[in-house]
Amino acid sequence: MKLFVDTGNLKEIEAMVSLGIVDGVTTNPSLLAKESGDYREILKQICRTVQGPVSAEVVATDTAGMIREGRDLATIDEHIVIKVPFTKDGVKACKALSSDGHRVNVTLIFSATQAWLAAKVGAAYVSPFVGRLDDVGTTGMNLIREIVEIFDNADYATEVLVASVRNPIHVVESARMGADVVTAPAAVIEQCFKHPLTDIGLERFLKDWEKAQAAKV
Ligand code: E4P
Repeated sequence: MKLFVDTGNLKEIEAMVSLGIVDGVTTNPSLLAKESGDYREILKQICRTVQGPVSAEVVATDTAGMIREGRDLATIDEHIVIKVPFTKDGVKACKALSSDGHRVNVTLIFSATQAWLAAKVGAAYVSPFVGRLDDVGTTGMNLIREIVEIFDNADYATEVLVASVRNPIHVVESARMGADVVTAPAAVIEQCFKHPLTDIGLERFLKDWEKAQAAKV
């Protein structure tokens, strides 16, 4: 399973990329709005840093506007993946942009039918939002199981990109269910590294080693 970082923050991306674990980045208008500076320049630097797929979202809501913005975003860098929301206009834009040869990530997916329709119009990725489904009292990960099964049955090339990830359990479940990609905030990736027994174990190894060295002198 590939790991993308869900952020528009270059420092967070640099820190994660330096660990050698990052395959790509996802952004959205809310994430980029938190960053200061020109969004095109930020996206360019992110692409340069990650050297993998970087999702950049359109803000137009009509098909023509999405296509125009999508084509423009794609000129920033070859790694840009155009993100469009799942609406009828978004579906039409996805079809047009995909036919042009662009990679499209259809976002704001909350049902299996939405994912299936996005796959039918050639989406490179669908982004089901598991955390936001959990927030409204449903089990977000059930949607991932359904989408993975549907895509496997039909042999769609569309990748399941698990989004709105809130904790390492979402990450583990995504991998177990056969999702292609998980995109996680840096804080969740940090949590994936941690286990108290690793820290305690290392401390004990080093103490025992020191003690043995001291006894030899
Ligand atoms: C990713 O593509 C989404 O934009 C993101 O994961 C949304 O996460 P949130 O529900 O935590 O805002």
